Amino acid sequence: MAAAVSGIGLSWGSKVSQRPCSSPSSSSPSRCRSSGRRCVIRMAVTVEKKNFTLQKSEEIFNAAKDLMPGGVNSPVRAFKSVGGQPIVIDSVKGSHMWDVDGNEYIDYVGSWGPAIIGHADDKVLAALAETMKKGTSFGAPCALENELAEMVIAAVPSIDMVRFVNSGTEACMGVLRLARAFTNRQKIIKFEGCYHGHADPFLVKAGSGVATLGLPDSPGVPKAATIDTLTSPFNDFQTVEDLFKAHKEDIAAVILEPVVGNAGFIPPSSDFLNFLRRITKENGALLIFDEVMTGFRLAYGGAQEYFGITPDLTTLGKIIGGGLPVGAYGGRRDIMEMVAPAGPMYQAGTLSGNPLAMTAGIHTLKRLKEPGSYEYLDKITAELVQGILDAGKNAGHEMCGGYIRGMFGFFFTKGPVYNFEDAKKSDTAKFAKFYRAMLEEGVYFAPSQFEAGFTGLAHTSEDIQRTIAAADKVLRQL
Ligand SMILES: Cc1ncc(COP(=O)(O)O)c(C=O)c1O
Repeated sequence: MAAAVSGIGLSWGSKVSQRPCSSPSSSSPSRCRSSGRRCVIRMAVTVEKKNFTLQKSEEIFNAAKDLMPGGVNSPVRAFKSVGGQPIVIDSVKGSHMWDVDGNEYIDYVGSWGPAIIGHADDKVLAALAETMKKGTSFGAPCALENELAEMVIAAVPSIDMVRFVNSGTEACMGVLRLARAFTNRQKIIKFEGCYHGHADPFLVKAGSGVATLGLPDSPGVPKAATIDTLTSPFNDFQTVEDLFKAHKEDIAAVILEPVVGNAGFIPPSSDFLNFLRRITKENGALLIFDEVMTGFRLAYGGAQEYFGITPDLTTLGKIIGGGLPVGAYGGRRDIMEMVAPAGPMYQAGTLSGNPLAMTAGIHTLKRLKEPGSYEYLDKITAELVQGILDAGKNAGHEMCGGYIRGMFGFFFTKGPVYNFEDAKKSDTAKFAKFYRAMLEEGVYFAPSQFEAGFTGLAHTSEDIQRTIAAADKVLRQL
């Protein structure tokens, strides 16, 4: 079985190596007076209890339930696993959100990932306004596509060529067809708890909403669509080896979230990604990193840059659209040249490469590329996760958690958590109580124990301290 992760952010239940600063600078409180470096400071913050009501949210959501299935357009938003009704959002800015009742929240969902530089960033909004003067969609080539493509290719080690689509689901559908076309093989290996969008072949032991709602698989997915989907627990070397032994000549690709975010936050154990790189190469199969979540979040070049492992193909989404609908897949030139019209593998999209989405992506990546971005994410996320784990420990709860740069998670189980089965040992009823109480304290986490959390450049030290203070209070009361 997998060994514990070391050297990756905060490993399960361990301590952050940073210490609270004993000498903060008065002009810049996040810097140390003596060293000038950024340092961890614990400020005393009181969280005031406001008059918390969700009356307007309830009215709007009740009406929505008659109009849209479950009242939402994506299942996890319905708060089924944490109980109560979802809050209805009115506006967002930076690291904060406001609901229709006027309640303010520190947001750790970030629209499920895209808002890494903060919601409604002024530069992104200004650039969108400029682009909009020229129109909203061309359905024909535009120079902005080249600009974002060049940025993605320069950033992501595995990508020589890229195809833009409109969502992560589309990116994963496209990449699967491409892997099958290139290898002329049918089978794929995916990992339990990994979510690759809602296309039929991936809805087998998928995480995210499927896990949150406890659905085994979705009705409506024909057997024929999943017959070639083989599954293994994440971090399980032996099962992957056995699958390759049993289906040696038939496996087109191994696809995974290099750090799982759709079963909660689960990093790969030491050497697991190396092992997958080696075994796919030895067997003539392709290695696909689904970096829809981790791309530009763990590092500017994604998980593949962070871990130093180059897959054959990569999917992206979320951040590269800066809050507008985008996905992408890319990889080695010889493989990508199979995509139509350069090659025979067909895939297309009416709105793909849309000028607004390209603009938001370009300006989001420009901001992320500024020096210090990932160091800042590392610092605040370490502080946040350690603060929550300390609060849990002080209140006598069994918890574990971890983070890498702007991605984190914590479970209500003592851990360690190497795979989805381990994650499922979490006390989800306790998480639900914690979740609702944190909401009342003005902190918005993902409404499921099986979703990672996200920090961004707009989160301030004060946000983090307020969150820790709220967690401390709530965990003592649970
Ligand atoms: C790793 C991963 N792949 C694919 C998807 C699907 O992306 P979308 O929701 O944009 O279709 C998601 C969505 O959360 C994801 O996290």
